[in-house]
Amino acid sequence: MADSPAQFRGQARLPRFAAPLRYDLRIRPDLAACNFSGAAAVAVAVSAPTRFLVLNAAELDVDRASIRFQANVTQFEEDEILVIGFDRELPVGEGVLTMDFTGTLNDQMRGFYRSKYVCNGESRNMAVTQFEAADARRCFPCWDDPAFKAKFKLTLEVPSDLVALSNMPVVKETISGPIKTVYYEESPLMSTYLVAIVVGLFDYIESSTSEGTKVRVYTQVGKTNQGKFALDVAVKSLDLYKDYFATPYPLPKLDMIAIPDFAAGAMENYGLVTYRETALLYDELLSSASNKQQVAITVAHELAHQWFGNLVTMEWWTHLWLNEGFASWVSYLAVDSLFPEWNNWTQFLDETTSGLRLDALAESHPIEVEINHASEIDAIFDSISYDKGASVIRMLQSYLGAERFQKALASYIKKYAYSNAKTEDLWAVLEKESGEPVKDLMTTWTKQQGYPVICAKLNGHDLELEQAQFLSDGSSGTGMWIVPITSCCGSYDAQKKFLLKDKTDKIHIKEFTASQSSDGDKNIWIKLNIDQTGFYRVKYDDELAAGLVNAIKAKKLSLMDKIGIVEDSYALSVARKQTLTSLLRLLNAYHDESDYTVLSHVTSVCLSISKISVDATPDLNKDIKQLLINLLQPAAIKLGWDPKDGESHLDVMLRSLLLIALVRLGHNETINEGVRRFHIFLEDRKTSLLPPDTRKAAYLAVMRTVSTSNRSGYDALLKIYREAAEPQEKSRVLGSLSSSPDKDIVLEALNFMFTDEVRNQDSYYILGGISLEGREVAWTWLKTNWDHVLKTWKSSSLISDFINSIVSPFTSEEKAAEVSEFFACRIKPSFQRALNQSLERVRISARWIESIRSEPSLGQAVQGLLQGTA
Ligand code: BES
Ligand code: ZN
Repeated sequence: MADSPAQFRGQARLPRFAAPLRYDLRIRPDLAACNFSGAAAVAVAVSAPTRFLVLNAAELDVDRASIRFQANVTQFEEDEILVIGFDRELPVGEGVLTMDFTGTLNDQMRGFYRSKYVCNGESRNMAVTQFEAADARRCFPCWDDPAFKAKFKLTLEVPSDLVALSNMPVVKETISGPIKTVYYEESPLMSTYLVAIVVGLFDYIESSTSEGTKVRVYTQVGKTNQGKFALDVAVKSLDLYKDYFATPYPLPKLDMIAIPDFAAGAMENYGLVTYRETALLYDELLSSASNKQQVAITVAHELAHQWFGNLVTMEWWTHLWLNEGFASWVSYLAVDSLFPEWNNWTQFLDETTSGLRLDALAESHPIEVEINHASEIDAIFDSISYDKGASVIRMLQSYLGAERFQKALASYIKKYAYSNAKTEDLWAVLEKESGEPVKDLMTTWTKQQGYPVICAKLNGHDLELEQAQFLSDGSSGTGMWIVPITSCCGSYDAQKKFLLKDKTDKIHIKEFTASQSSDGDKNIWIKLNIDQTGFYRVKYDDELAAGLVNAIKAKKLSLMDKIGIVEDSYALSVARKQTLTSLLRLLNAYHDESDYTVLSHVTSVCLSISKISVDATPDLNKDIKQLLINLLQPAAIKLGWDPKDGESHLDVMLRSLLLIALVRLGHNETINEGVRRFHIFLEDRKTSLLPPDTRKAAYLAVMRTVSTSNRSGYDALLKIYREAAEPQEKSRVLGSLSSSPDKDIVLEALNFMFTDEVRNQDSYYILGGISLEGREVAWTWLKTNWDHVLKTWKSSSLISDFINSIVSPFTSEEKAAEVSEFFACRIKPSFQRALNQSLERVRISARWIESIRSEPSLGQAVQGLLQGTA
């Protein structure tokens, strides 16, 4: 065995006795034949005598004869490794490994792939790379592990008329007939997953940072106009990050480019960031306010990675959250500084909410998760790494203070630049710079899954606190956390902060400094987790809860605290720790709320309640919907359908949010008005009656009225889809098509996904829009087409969307059992977690329904609230 290449199989990581120093890569893509050939010369440092070199390769044909020394080459496809066995031992020192290889430009949106586009009416291919997490090995043989940083020198041989981009600037170009050879500068030390190549026809616009770094946005020919907004955000973000991290942007240039077929939203390749078109391109007339925000956040996120991720890289995928959590958190910092009127930190609570919702499942996982095979990595690009990751960073920053935190981050970046770091390395720097017990505190959040709910009780003059792990299924886990508690009493000036280290603790009311509330004051309110900076929930006893309802009505609370209260209350209701009746009463306190950030959470809770009540209380469903409509309507009426001169970005977002929610709740007037405007729009695509911001609401309204016998609305939407040049417009249509209550129409929309007219990257829009009435037909469709779905989407995280969107809406144990049985013999690691989580959601809903049905006074409370007497 010791002498056999097979000894290297089945390992999570490559052996460390040899490491690459420098890759000299020459790659020649053939865009017509969809394949490529390449040659690699890798300078390798051998640190312990060995007969073997072990590196990664997958779906590549490595020409054995091209390896210069006498060697036996064994390729283990399953392990995606290449073992080169030499006749004689390699001495300690440096050598050069040369290899020639060929591969295909695949259709899977990973590795080296082709994307299709139309230029001047002609259909064309472009060649693109997407290497994160572990797909550089599909383009060239390499040590495909983030810790093996090396320098890269690329040479591309491409058709002379095309633009060829890579991480570094071009140093030289030679043309020989139809082929040009492009030579790029050597890169600094970097990980394989950040190497990038794009070859195709593009135009660009250019600007530069205050340091003189050239920044370009490449777009389809003739569309550079749509790159201006992203270019502006990019230049400003680079300047901001340079100051924030106290380190200059590490490369000589930055290019950003939109790719028509793209599995993720964007990818932070060093110096050549790739985007889905909807995440980069913005058009004053054709994009919505929420498109604009998405572009800003995505650009800011990817550029943050140029420091956090690219310059300092996680040591292994277990620490992925260091990349993604940080980039997400920092992107809010940048966008907040560029667009203060967007109230971005309040919007950040969307991230915290997704993190809290996912992490309340028993099928969640810790932020730091063990990875045993490359195929497991994709599944952890989830809300835990991103949203919980970003949220615990916000929690820590708020505990340490912004200034101390920034200083420590800057020294962490300096210390680990051009190298790799683990989670502990970050804690060590923060601990040293702050003198606080950062490691002990944070380990409870990153190595342990889940989070606590703090139960708060008033007992005489004591506020008693007790922590227990919160789970949506209503059970209590055994986790314990060190919780940074913040609280205030009667006013934001009367605060008390401390670390809750044990299961229980208490605060004497007098400890709230400057408390103005006299004992027995019935207007007293106590809010824990001020501004929701902590990653936990709070359950108040009845007296404290009533105090908070009064405080909401009296407009004493911050936007963030109002969001926290409604989110916690909703989660507690799902977990059966609180009645739906009391949740509805609480929602009633938000009836004259007019802020987008708060209402976006309120509407999301309303829509969940409306859905669950279809199954839980069919007799009450109509009344509950009416109640929720009554709650949202005042704000919607104030805004109307038509934009007003000079109104704020957030009001524009709010209009769209409310109209969509009212359509979904079945509000007839809104649906009729949407349909009316849609017909005008059909006649005149430039009508001011249906700008991009309200279009989705109108599309959804139309789909609510469509049926097999009355399908003109569906056909009209398809026509809009076919005629639309803009991906953002196409996504609005796709997101509506499956939302009809008519099952046959839903089926037709699902089948539309399989046609050439819908890119594989866009399937999730259709999946995300499926109506509640369509869930059975969607499930049958998924079972029938599973083999095709698996074959087409298998190699990307998009496969999880099919399961998530189609399974999660069910609400019965029987259905969970049926789904579970169907997948029993079909399960794969790439979607195992998504399936388990979806099944858990179904079971949680089933139990929630039982509990709702047993609430004795629900019907009465609904009537009372409807009549305004409750
Ligand atoms: N590094 C990711 C891209 C990625 C995701 C690669 C999954 C491989 C698998 C990139 O930085 C990212 O996080 N993109 C986000 C957008 C962002 C605004 C949160 C995405 O793709 O959704
Ligand atoms: Zn990222």
